[in-house]
Amino acid sequence: MHGHPLIYLDNAATSQKPQVVIDALTQFYRCDNANVHRGIHELSNRASAAFEKTRERAARFINASHSDEIIFTRGTTESINLLANAWGNQTVKAGDVILLTEMEHHSNIVPWQLLARRTGAKLAFLPVNGDEGLLDLSRLEDSLTSNVRLLAFTHISNALGTINPLVELCEKARKRGILTFVDAAQSAGHRRLDVQELGCDFLALSGHKMCAPTGIGLLYGRLELLDDMEPWQGGGDMISSVDFHESTWNKVPHKFEAGTPNIADTIALHAAMDYLDAVGRDRIAQHDSEIGAYAFEELERLGKVRLFGPRNQRAGLVSFLLHNIHAHDVVTFADRQGVALRGGHHCTQPLMKKLGVSSTSRASFYFYNTTEEVDRLIEVLRGIQKFFGE
Ligand SMILES: Cc1ncc(COP(=O)(O)O)c(C=O)c1O
Repeated sequence: MHGHPLIYLDNAATSQKPQVVIDALTQFYRCDNANVHRGIHELSNRASAAFEKTRERAARFINASHSDEIIFTRGTTESINLLANAWGNQTVKAGDVILLTEMEHHSNIVPWQLLARRTGAKLAFLPVNGDEGLLDLSRLEDSLTSNVRLLAFTHISNALGTINPLVELCEKARKRGILTFVDAAQSAGHRRLDVQELGCDFLALSGHKMCAPTGIGLLYGRLELLDDMEPWQGGGDMISSVDFHESTWNKVPHKFEAGTPNIADTIALHAAMDYLDAVGRDRIAQHDSEIGAYAFEELERLGKVRLFGPRNQRAGLVSFLLHNIHAHDVVTFADRQGVALRGGHHCTQPLMKKLGVSSTSRASFYFYNTTEEVDRLIEVLRGIQKFFGE
């Protein structure tokens, strides 16, 4: 990149893809390409079997009790829109509350705003305690009022690196009979997830942040909840029978998968999940926490820097501002040295507003990043400080 070896530190936006995932895509298109669930011919049967095997693999990946609890979507954003429409339209009434947190990605805010507009429901937010980026859990009990229908929160903040206490949040909500949704976009490819142990009702992830292609993700939902939900999109495959004026629905999960799905990318998601488990998600989580802590400490040692997110127990990403230097200047300058960072509001504008900033620079790591790459980042940042006379 610009004459330098690439150091890719934008993994929270999307990860790089291993060869086995690329191979799964080309293998499908070269040898197995056919539509699913429709043919009686061998090729279609093969495509359908591989597609449905991914559903079973995904269920094992998050320890869902049944593969029918896995609905394929384009990613986390589409999963949340599905939930807000299929579950929300039916369940949420005027005066009800959807409880979120102040550190949510826009994709876990805007679909709920649209739902609130449609139904007259309200949104409420668990506060974040400033730059340290922790949820103020002392406010949790009081926030779980009788009109809260859903507590929807991110597992790991893409803007702060905070790891939220999933079990505690789910347990407290469950005790009050409140459903929970977990945004696992930043965590699913980075640590083991067990939806049964967590006790969450819904969870979403994006394949492209965990070595799979773009355009494939999933929504997990407890079967009895999915069974009660109306479909959100109409079309082929999601029906049991269609008449000119009335239709009946296919069973879960097909009820929520209208039209030809993203077959090749779904099959490649299988390869990505196998790959991640071969690397070992516990090892990835350990590496995340070590490289995240190392980057945080090195940034602190650099000086003239404002750091966001907690010091301890952080994920593998650091969000920061160099004093008197705009985040975009940092990212542009770093890019010229071959270091890919991200600068901006990270789709968390309300959080940025709360922190009193318009943007931050972010370095986000994955298992293939090294401490030597962090050292190079720090060297580049030192160069930027010097250039700007800091
Ligand atoms: C915490 C979080 N939630 C949701 C999303 C949206 O994911 P996608 O764009 O894959 O739908 C992202 C993407 O950056 C994210 O970081």
